[in-house]
Amino acid sequence: MKYVIANWKAHKNYQEVNEWCNVFLDKIAYSNQLQNSLKQGRLSIIICPPDPFIALVKARFLKTTNIFVGVQSLSQYDDGAYTGETTARMVAGVADYSLIGHSERRQLFNETNEVIAAKTAMAFKYMITPLVCVRTIQDTIPAETTFVVYEPVWAIGTGKNEQPKAVVEMKQMLKIGPAQKFIYGGSVTPENCMGYLSEAAIDGILPGKASLDPQTFYEMVSQVV
Ligand code: PGA
Repeated sequence: MKYVIANWKAHKNYQEVNEWCNVFLDKIAYSNQLQNSLKQGRLSIIICPPDPFIALVKARFLKTTNIFVGVQSLSQYDDGAYTGETTARMVAGVADYSLIGHSERRQLFNETNEVIAAKTAMAFKYMITPLVCVRTIQDTIPAETTFVVYEPVWAIGTGKNEQPKAVVEMKQMLKIGPAQKFIYGGSVTPENCMGYLSEAAIDGILPGKASLDPQTFYEMVSQVV
């Protein structure tokens, strides 16, 4: 099973989200091969829209197989007096996954390893699978983490992707266990995605920019056969 995770970051409004879903649903409808790789369990797609649109995306993909919704972050707190927060309990049942500790959260919103551990625990409490993002071996991976996303900062949004061999070496350095999934993110495109997806040691990819256009996203997921 390969995982392709779309991280839209802070992009798209209601109309643009609907348009993306229209185009991508059309692509699925016209591609038996993509339908088969989803139905036969060779491919899982996880779409991470901005929070206001998670219920919309969930509803648009209700009839498809192996397409899930993820949030891009979660509160470290449970429900309570935390104005502006999106808690794990709020999104439970809609989002199956959550990115945790994306490098942009660490850099721009001061998320520390402690905060990331608390967010990971919240995700588990509400049956949301955390996709824990790390930049280097210095970033702590909370115990029980099942999905680790390796994203070197220099590769994010720069057009300079890390080489698949170096990603596999990093997997060893991060001591990823056999029960853990290992995902790569950082300037993944339709041109370079197979370098990662064809490696047995790499379980999937996390494209940001290349997930914003449904045609470009389709060009990546359709390479999983
Ligand atoms: P990018 O973003 O594909 O635009 O480099 C990846 C990410 O930050 O998750």
